[in-house]
Amino acid sequence: MVNLSPSTEEIFKGMRVRSDDREADTSVANKTTDPANDDIVFDASDLSVFYGEFRAVRDVNMRITRNEITALIGPSGCGKSTVLRSFNRMNDLIPTARVVGTLRYRGVDLYDPRVDPVEVRRRIGMVFQKPNPFPKSIYDNVAYGPRVAGRKKGLDDVVENSLKKAALWDEVKDRLQESAIGLSGGQQQRLSIARAIAVDPEVLLMDEPCSALDPIATARIEELMAEIKHEYTILIVTHNMQQAARVSDRTAFFSVEVDEKSDRRTGLLVEYTTTKKLFSNPDDERTENYITGRFG
Ligand SMILES: Nc1ncnc2c1ncn2[C@@H]1O[C@H](COP(=O)(O)OP(=O)(O)OP(=O)(O)O)[C@@H](O)[C@H]1O
Ligand SMILES: [Mg+2]
Repeated sequence: MVNLSPSTEEIFKGMRVRSDDREADTSVANKTTDPANDDIVFDASDLSVFYGEFRAVRDVNMRITRNEITALIGPSGCGKSTVLRSFNRMNDLIPTARVVGTLRYRGVDLYDPRVDPVEVRRRIGMVFQKPNPFPKSIYDNVAYGPRVAGRKKGLDDVVENSLKKAALWDEVKDRLQESAIGLSGGQQQRLSIARAIAVDPEVLLMDEPCSALDPIATARIEELMAEIKHEYTILIVTHNMQQAARVSDRTAFFSVEVDEKSDRRTGLLVEYTTTKKLFSNPDDERTENYITGRFG
């Protein structure tokens, strides 16, 4: 194992490259080692996602910076969820989905066949639009992921710490054995965040996490994101432009192009820059039209 930076080696160990391929680790890692880019968590290069023959989204070139919140905005159908799911290989679960181009996660090609998608999803957790607690106790919901990963000891601490980070502990500490189904929508969404945090991820992908919540619960989640971004890297899809402007450091605006002949709509990344610039002085007219409400 020559010429490998320790960090890259660690990533590969952590990614559990399948043992029969271990000999080949160095070649892949060497190609991707770039110590100067330590703060780049994701590097998407000419990424397209297809469903069968249909190219749902194209030309995604973006670098995601560690400990920042990146917002993905754009009209319905422009591919925000599709792109988000490609960042933790969740699209693998859709049989027709295919990702083309390169997506590196801390220098490692996420779609290298030797990378274990289960480990990818542990490191890169996901919170969905609709909170989806299991019909189990609050405790068991949070302990679920660690248990599946084989953890037996210290579960009480994991549950407490995850609920604390998700700003839910004070509200539930006296009812941990009660069903999670009895929590309010906002509490359930924080429980989803606690569940994602419990397996100790590095990145949280959130797909419209507040769209089913009232303004108070939304504000709570936004505060929470700001509190935890120092420990995690967060990507959030949102239809709420005020939310993107409030919480994120960088924003990516996606749009859709309609092919006249086939009438197919392909999403594309139009502009990706600091949130401040995107909302005050965007470079692209399409961005300007969208953020000022002149779109469509
Ligand atoms: N499982 C799938 N199979 C086939 N096509 C899909 C699938 N999921 C999404 N698509 C298509 O891919 C395109 C992008 O969809 P996607 O859900 O990523 O958009 P979105 O920007 O998240 O939209 P919204 O804001 O409505 O959630 C759409 O044309 C959609 O119909
Ligand atoms: Mg979506």
